[in-house]
Amino acid sequence: MTLRAVVKGVGHYLPDRIVPNAEFEKRLDTSDEWIKSRSGIERRHFVADGQTTSDIGAAAAEAALKQAGLSAQDIDAIIVATSTPDLTFPSAATMIQSKLGMTRGFAFDIQAVCAGFVYALANANALIMAGQAERILVIGAETFSRILDWEDRSTCVLFGDGAGALVLEAATGDGSTEDRGILSVDLNSDGRHRDILYVDGGVSTNQSSGFLRMEGREVFRHAVEKLAQTAHGALEKIGLEGSDVDWIVPHQANLRIIKATANRMNVAMDHVVVTVQDHGNTSAASIPLALSVGVERGQIKRGDLLVTEAIGGGLAWGAVVLRW
Ligand code: UT7
Repeated sequence: MTLRAVVKGVGHYLPDRIVPNAEFEKRLDTSDEWIKSRSGIERRHFVADGQTTSDIGAAAAEAALKQAGLSAQDIDAIIVATSTPDLTFPSAATMIQSKLGMTRGFAFDIQAVCAGFVYALANANALIMAGQAERILVIGAETFSRILDWEDRSTCVLFGDGAGALVLEAATGDGSTEDRGILSVDLNSDGRHRDILYVDGGVSTNQSSGFLRMEGREVFRHAVEKLAQTAHGALEKIGLEGSDVDWIVPHQANLRIIKATANRMNVAMDHVVVTVQDHGNTSAASIPLALSVGVERGQIKRGDLLVTEAIGGGLAWGAVVLRW
């Protein structure tokens, strides 16, 4: 008998305001054609004034709990992957805990930027394996619109806001790759590349929240190489390969990166969940959003073998293999 962290429910929340590429044409030297052809993005959602990361994270969590048939009091821990918390502290996770009316267990944030959800899944899995928690809400929630420089056309057109959540529950399997749940994890980071994707503000540097800065071409180059590598690495650890995968559920930053990674893994695009056209890059929220939308669309079904992979600021990157 092997302990496994199995998905019990999934849900998401997208803010009401939808901004099509055309809106950027009015005030920047850019075009719908450039944004679509370079990134695959057609529209994104932005939060309303006063709407925070914990608001949208809590809404996604409620949707996931509903699908799992559970209440917040059934949950032992909340892990939130975010780089855009409501405040420097306390954590977005404790704010979500209180918004859900959950008065037990523990809650904390993970900061690995766009790779945050993969890191959060890995940590939730480790807590379940160690017997520290039986049910964990794993949430990716971001309000990147709050850290965009609206004068910088090379970044502000690429990002969006949103949140997604999974409920993971301890279950036993037979130890084979046929088990449902998280089967393998591969995490990496290399801080030498910290200055190709960062925010130019922070508590101990200049006491401001700052704006996102990115050398897109450089990040692109690393992404294409490292995402296929980490996905292969996670599969290899359990003796599987690309041809075994039902769905790649990638971080949704750029359609060209998604296609290049699928190509390197020998996985056809009709086995890749793509949402980047509708959401833009929602950083740590992009994978749980894609999981939730993939289920809604009828793409992801119980028993399917999934690989999630992501890369972001740090650089930090990684992959998780799980059977849905
Ligand atoms: O989620 C975290 C990880 N992030 C990523 O994975 C993002 C990775 N990078 C990318 O997705 C792509 O590099 C971008 C979408 C950011 C850019 O695509 P690209 O094909 O690498 O374009 P580029 O940066 O090489 O820029 C090409 C040209 C430049 O003009 P010159 O220097 O060739 O004259 C830019 O100034 O496009 C120009 N440009 C724009 N033009 C119209 C940059 N932004 C825009 C814009 N509209 N919004």
